[in-house]
Order: sequence, then C-alpha cells, then structure tokens
Amino acid sequence: PSPELEQQFDATVARKDRIEPRDWMPEAYRKTLVRQIAQHAHSEIIGMQPEGNWIGRAPSLRRKAILLAKVQDEAGHGLYLYSACETLGVTRDELTRMLIEGRQKYSSIFNYPTLSYADVGTIGWLVDGAAICNQVPLCRTSFGPYGRAMIRICKEESFHQRQGFELLMTMMRGTDEQRAMVQESVDRFWWPALMMFGPPDADSPNTEQSMAWGIKTHTNDALRQKFVDMSVPQATALGVTLPDPELRWNEERGHHDFGQPDWAEFMRVVKGGGPCNAQRVAHRKRAWEDGAWVREAALAFAEREAAAQQE
Ligand code: ACO
Repeated sequence: PSPELEQQFDATVARKDRIEPRDWMPEAYRKTLVRQIAQHAHSEIIGMQPEGNWIGRAPSLRRKAILLAKVQDEAGHGLYLYSACETLGVTRDELTRMLIEGRQKYSSIFNYPTLSYADVGTIGWLVDGAAICNQVPLCRTSFGPYGRAMIRICKEESFHQRQGFELLMTMMRGTDEQRAMVQESVDRFWWPALMMFGPPDADSPNTEQSMAWGIKTHTNDALRQKFVDMSVPQATALGVTLPDPELRWNEERGHHDFGQPDWAEFMRVVKGGGPCNAQRVAHRKRAWEDGAWVREAALAFAEREAAAQQE
C-alpha cells in the first residue's frame, strides 16, 4: 500500500471515524474483523438452540409468543452480522463451513444446557445483559457496517433483557418451588455469563491491537466489571443471590469486588469440550444440510431471472 493510504487509515481511526468496505485497510485489520464478526454471527445463530429447546414447552401462549419472537430476533441478528462480514470479501457459505468444521468459534455461553423454563428468563437477564454491556460500545466500533448492525441489534437485545427480567420477577412472585427454580438457574448461569467477556486482559492476545484499531473500545475486564456492577442491584430487586462469596462493594474503587470464573473450564468449553458443544455444532450442520435445496433453488431462480432479463 502507498504510505498515503496507510496514513489515511490511521487518521480515520485516530479521529474515531468509520472505515468503510471500499476504503483501504491493513490485511490484519480485515482478518481480525472477519474473525470477530463471524464469531459474533455464529453466536447469534447457535444461540437460537438453547432457547429454541423450550418453544414447544412454554407455559402459556403469551410466553410462547414472546420466546418465538426472541429466537427469531436472534436469527435476524445473525443475518445482519453475516451481511456485515460479507462486505469484507468472505461469503456466508464460507463462514458457515468454517463454523461447522470447527475452524471458527462461537460464544462459550451457548454450550451450556437449558434445564428449566427459568433458564429462558436467566438467559434474557444475564446472557443478554452481558451481550448488551459488550455490544453497546461496539456501536462505535471503527468498521462502519459492524457498528451500524450493532445499533439495531442492541435495541432488540434490550427488549430481550427486559423480557428475561420480567419472566424471573413473575416466577419470584410465585411459589417457593418457582423461586428455587430461579435461584438454581442463576447459580448455573452466573459464572458462564462472566466468561462471555473473554479471558482476563493479561491473557487476551487480541485486545491491545483491537483497541488500537478502534475495533474494541473497552477491555474484557472493564466490561466484565461493568456487568457485575449492573447486575448486583438487579439481583437484589429480584431477590436472588449471586453465587460468589467474594462479591462485595468496594467503597474505594467505587466498584464491586468479585471472584474469578473457572478459567480452566472456559478453555475447555472454547476448545469444544463443554457440555453441549458437539450437539450444538451437529444440529447446525444438519440444519445447513437440510436447507441445501432451498439455497440451490434460490440460486437457480436468480440465474433464470437474470438470463431472462438479458434476452
Ligand atoms: N467464547 C468463545 N471464545 C471466546 C470467548 C467466549 N466467551 N471469549 C474469547 N474467546 C476467544 C477469542 O475469540 C479468541 O480466540 P480467537 O483468536 O481464535 O478468535 C480467544 O478466546 C482470546 O480472546 P481475546 O483475545 O480476548 O479475543 P477478542 O479480542 O476477540 O475478545 C470478545 C473476545 C470480547 C468476545 C470479542 O470478540 C467481542 O467483543 N466479540 C463480539 C461480541 C460477541 O461475539 N458476542 C457473542 C455472544 S453475545 C450473543 O450472541 C447474545
């Protein structure tokens, strides 16, 4: 690249402006974005599975309608993100292949099972809550299509978070058994939710460069702290206990101190050894294969239409 192009790129990033798909960009910047956006898209699509598990068993028509809408939103998020990623010169087909062949990752959180209906509420409250903490800053990320996709996604994630909180609040106003179900669910999801932010900063190989490029605007630990600070008063309002004996307000820091998740478990899950990894990927692969005829038919139709227009 000419030094002028490089300077232009650096200046755009420095004034916190957007890089657009046709602008010159360093190859490593492009690669990092493909990695992160694809991983994010895959998380949205794989994330449909744990909650989809409960659509047929929702306790009322109202809950079923809410859950269906939510799971459909996740599909939509995946599609915006795949589209944003395609502007970087990869196809959705390639990205899906990389996912099902285990060459790209998706969020660790979706490798945990959903064992009760309270999990639908907890995923909304904690998992979507963590997603919002991580994604609101990404609305200002340096790559235009990614930042713009995030704006709409965040609006929908806020709705998801509130529906989760409302579901849990309803259960907490119910019977002792329902309250116990909520607490048990929170006990299982709290630590995996903290892991969503990625490894501690000292063990995060990508953060420094991604921050220099304006792809990430906060470190993993900073966002994890923000999430803990946000969740503690919400847990109090709900009447649940967060399963961390080290959790307490630190007056001096103006933040909560908290314990560390089991990082060995995190590594295991990221490497494919979590409770549901194999099942999640097998399901995605089956859905992709079952949908092949739709893609082929759509392509054949598009080709025929294009040929007809040329005649
Ligand atoms: N699950 C799976 N893999 C993870 C996780 C996680 N929770 N956290 C980090 N990793 C991976 C990283 O992808 C990286 O591996 P890679 O280099 O092969 O891609 C490795 O662990 C080291 O992590 P970092 O250096 O900290 O990686 P990075 O700078 O990409 O930060 C983060 C990770 C914070 C997840 C970032 O990619 C991000 O903000 N992504 C967008 C948000 C997102 O993907 N959300 C999906 C879940 S939310 C939802 O869908 C509801």
